[in-house]
Amino acid sequence: MDFIDLIKERKSIRHFTAELPPREVILECLEAASWAPNPTSQQPWKFIILSGESLKKMCRVIADNFAKAAAELAKQPAPAVSDGMAQELKARKDRSFSEMLSFLKEKGADIQTIGAGNFAFHHAPMGIMFVTYPCKNQNYLKAAVAAMENFLLAATARGLGTCWINAVSICQESIKKGLDLEPDLILVDGVAVGYPVKDSSLNQIPRHRLPVEEVTEFL
Ligand SMILES: Cc1cc2nc3c(=O)[nH]c(=O)nc-3n(C[C@H](O)[C@H](O)[C@H](O)COP(=O)(O)O)c2cc1C
Repeated sequence: MDFIDLIKERKSIRHFTAELPPREVILECLEAASWAPNPTSQQPWKFIILSGESLKKMCRVIADNFAKAAAELAKQPAPAVSDGMAQELKARKDRSFSEMLSFLKEKGADIQTIGAGNFAFHHAPMGIMFVTYPCKNQNYLKAAVAAMENFLLAATARGLGTCWINAVSICQESIKKGLDLEPDLILVDGVAVGYPVKDSSLNQIPRHRLPVEEVTEFL
């Protein structure tokens, strides 16, 4: 498959079979992740794989702590985005949410499923936490995110489904305590991993991108 077609084929999967992906396939995809660009070849990342009891434990920690962590986050001052841009971003979010909700309603899917699924890694058999370390600028974080995207694409190429899980960074302090991880780690985010249930409406949610000219400027 053409590489650009593969990029477009990757999509967020929110309904997985119970089959655990083989360790060697996961390691192959993480090795691809590790070829991401990174500052002075420091490779400032760590990949923590959870399945079975460890994944259940993390999901429990998330479910127990998400509301409080999200409320703390909401108290933080709004970032300095111009009013116009903030409105535009909100409008894009509202459009995609309303399209998703009407699609799922039309398919008879339980709308609560996605929301609850976020606390449960969408019931995937495996979760991976992408971790980095504190640094004065955001370079380690940027590199870890580049590694995440490499992983998502490599996983797509191997027939795996993935979904980015934001609750991991939101609940990171509780997760680090609950899973006995070093306190100075930065949990960039999690990825749910497994094999997609092909015909599930949760995996067919309409996806769009703006015409690239709209978000591009040639100076
Ligand atoms: C930073 C970030 C956080 C995300 N968090 C979640 C999440 O917690 N749960 C979820 O189901 N999808 C999450 N996603 C996936 C987005 O919802 C998804 O990428 C977007 O709707 C576009 O759909 P696509 O990935 O199928 O192209 C996240 C994506 C990013 C980049």
